[in-house]
Amino acid sequence: MAGYTDSTFRTICLRRGCGLVFTELVSSEGIVRNITRTLNMLHTRDNERPIAAHIYGSDPEVMARAARRTEELGRFDLIDINAGCPVPKIVRKGAGVALMRDPTRLHDIVRAVVQAVSLPVTVKTRTGLSPDNANISEVAHAVEEAGASALFLHARLASARHGGPADLDALSRIKDELSIPVIGNGGITSAASASFMLKETGVDGVMVGRAAIGNPWIFAAITAALAGKEYRPPQSHDWVDVMTRHLRGLYGEMLRENAQRKRPRPHTERAACNRFRGHLTKYLRHAGCPARARRTLLEQQEVEALLRLVAEALQSPNSGEETDAVS
Ligand SMILES: Cc1cc2nc3c(=O)[nH]c(=O)nc-3n(C[C@H](O)[C@H](O)[C@H](O)COP(=O)(O)O)c2cc1C
Repeated sequence: MAGYTDSTFRTICLRRGCGLVFTELVSSEGIVRNITRTLNMLHTRDNERPIAAHIYGSDPEVMARAARRTEELGRFDLIDINAGCPVPKIVRKGAGVALMRDPTRLHDIVRAVVQAVSLPVTVKTRTGLSPDNANISEVAHAVEEAGASALFLHARLASARHGGPADLDALSRIKDELSIPVIGNGGITSAASASFMLKETGVDGVMVGRAAIGNPWIFAAITAALAGKEYRPPQSHDWVDVMTRHLRGLYGEMLRENAQRKRPRPHTERAACNRFRGHLTKYLRHAGCPARARRTLLEQQEVEALLRLVAEALQSPNSGEETDAVS
């Protein structure tokens, strides 16, 4: 998830039962042109496996070259092609969900990438562009025919963005129609909703998006439920520990990236706190941090001061109120 899927967060999710993580959306043009900012998005830690490089573009030749370069890094387990992103900046380039409009081009891209690398190649897409253009069946067959190893299907139309329920009928249908594994995505917020999607649609796996932000234990909850094991929710000190690891790791990554700039930028610490804010809001809610304390924490601009206040807030007698369900 663009803006959220930093290396530290991915490692945290993997340690809590997530079976596969993805990089942020990475431009194939940026990879082949050696743009430092783009290549930084392919930076991973040694123990961050299994991981997919999630790339986008509209030109089969450029996508193939980018995939080959990515494979040569030796740090990835598969190459995933984005054919579902509805953000105008991406769609204007004929990439992302725009590829659903042109299944032949998507087919050519998948085929070119499959031929360029030895890693498995997968595609992430949606059920269609709009109610009048729900052509996932045609797209899914094109992807399979081109040699993809699996399909990650966000079961919503592009016109719905991230709203509304996932289309479980579409997931069942596509699962029935394809021979390659189909992984269902959309609206999973708990172990119960993951089990429900698996049971109702027969998909080969499920993928969690937003519900992992601020609650990486969702993967532990799902894996425990699927294995019929008991799940022990995190305690206050676990939340403090995960936020500490995450923010310090993110700050470290940003310092490393900044040091590579020709002209390093000032205020990296402040930028790290700002970038962490989206995660922090969700962590604090899940951890049951009182709303008053949350506001103060979100204004902090120093890493260690922020973490000290987090520990104090979560150890206060009032923490535990307004807790979101953690399951
Ligand atoms: C902030 C944000 C960024 C996202 N970035 C990407 C992306 O780069 N590539 C992608 O395939 N999907 C992206 N998605 C979509 C998610 O991967 C997922 O398909 C979607 O959120 C539905 O799953 P959910 O209901 O579990 O959140 C993003 C979603 C959000 C909320």
